Amino acid sequence: MKSRIKLTKKIKTNMSSENKTTIPNSLNEHWMPFTSNKSFKESPRLITEAKGAYMKNHHGKTLIDGSSGLFCNPLGHGRKEIISAITKQLETLDYTQPFQQGFGGSFELATRISKHTPGNLNRIFYTICGSTAVDTAIKIAIAFHKAKGDGKRFRVVGRERAYHGMNIGGTSVGGMVNNVKAFASILMPGVLHMRHTHLPEHKFVSGQPETGAELADDLERFAMNFGGENIAACIVEPVAGSTGTLVPPKGYLQRLREICDKHGILLIFDEVITGWGRMGSEFAAQEFGVTPDIMTMAKATTNGISPMGVVACKEEIYDGIVDNAPKGTIELFHGYTYSGIPISVAAGLAVQDIFEKENIFKRVKELSPYFQEAIFSLKDLEAVENIRGYALMAGIDIKMDQKPGKAGFTCWTHCYEAGVNFKATGDCLIIAPMFISEKKHIDEIVDKLKTGITNYSKSKKN
Ligand SMILES: Cc1ncc(COP(=O)(O)O)c(C=O)c1O
Repeated sequence: MKSRIKLTKKIKTNMSSENKTTIPNSLNEHWMPFTSNKSFKESPRLITEAKGAYMKNHHGKTLIDGSSGLFCNPLGHGRKEIISAITKQLETLDYTQPFQQGFGGSFELATRISKHTPGNLNRIFYTICGSTAVDTAIKIAIAFHKAKGDGKRFRVVGRERAYHGMNIGGTSVGGMVNNVKAFASILMPGVLHMRHTHLPEHKFVSGQPETGAELADDLERFAMNFGGENIAACIVEPVAGSTGTLVPPKGYLQRLREICDKHGILLIFDEVITGWGRMGSEFAAQEFGVTPDIMTMAKATTNGISPMGVVACKEEIYDGIVDNAPKGTIELFHGYTYSGIPISVAAGLAVQDIFEKENIFKRVKELSPYFQEAIFSLKDLEAVENIRGYALMAGIDIKMDQKPGKAGFTCWTHCYEAGVNFKATGDCLIIAPMFISEKKHIDEIVDKLKTGITNYSKSKKN
């Protein structure tokens, strides 16, 4: 067994004061995702424990979790109900093949999920994560058109600044430049990107901006220029999350829906972040009053405890694909070894119980104005360029310093030092408190953000 006492000589560190019993022998072998590996390994940040809204790092320092993990732990860390549901499941049935056989739990969870989805998005396909949910949604859209005899629809429309995960489909329709540029040679053909919805006048807006609905007409232009009959689907995050909380302008999503209906284009909402209460309703679809044809979810579905993605489809999409295939054949040639596995289903069912028992969606709705007011109190800090927000999510843009991303990351490290953890993308700090937060947690997150951002400004003057 590897020793857990000493660091290998290969890594230069400044961890002399750290509790070495919690640091692995070597940090070399693990190639970390979306991470500056060289910097991290020189100065690692390891999390050793998490309970409720708090986590502890390997220095023994307690941090408040200001982004619900990666938006996936909104019911708090270490929930006993979920742990015991998983344990019980593992003791009874740890795994079963999801192809041509199954177990009761996945059907039960699908029924419970479908009670919360908008309209008749009542057919539930399980995947492993958000990325696999997005790629599955795209495949289902293509398969549906094909089943209807409309197989020439091959184009998929995404949007600038979108994040739809890192599989080929999601990367292709995504619009975060660094993610796309590196893999341009292997992306899906025929993808078009609408403009993003952030306009210069959207400064310090809490809620939906008044202007910008006409940006949805980009889809109409694509239909005009490339033929609406060639477009299979249009995919958007109702609120663009990973790019820093871009809230849709009033009327924008409605307009997208109208254009999709006019041209027979399927509208896909990627609700991997916005789903399950983050926006104050079950899904952003209900919050903004627009029903998509297909919807993805992941993250909060299991409270981030076990990986799961979900694609909810309108009944007519399922019927169109399944009814059109001859009886006895596989109707959709798609699926994953870990589609709806028992451990994730058990977590999902326990999460559904908590949603009901703790009236979570109502709770988010009630807490949201308090959070929005608190986060906008940071608007006068010297380093803050802009703040946007909706319900329990907000993006704080930090003024750029020389090159994109430098200010955001440095500011994030000061906030981490101040005792608040969250996700930063580029120069944007993304704050997404837990649904179980009390006002005191919001106050603590915002106080620590204030300290961190202020210390960042001071550090630049030294
Ligand atoms: C909107 C959206 N779609 C897809 C994904 C990808 O999810 P995952 O990382 O679980 O693959 C994310 C992840 O943040 C997301 O925010």
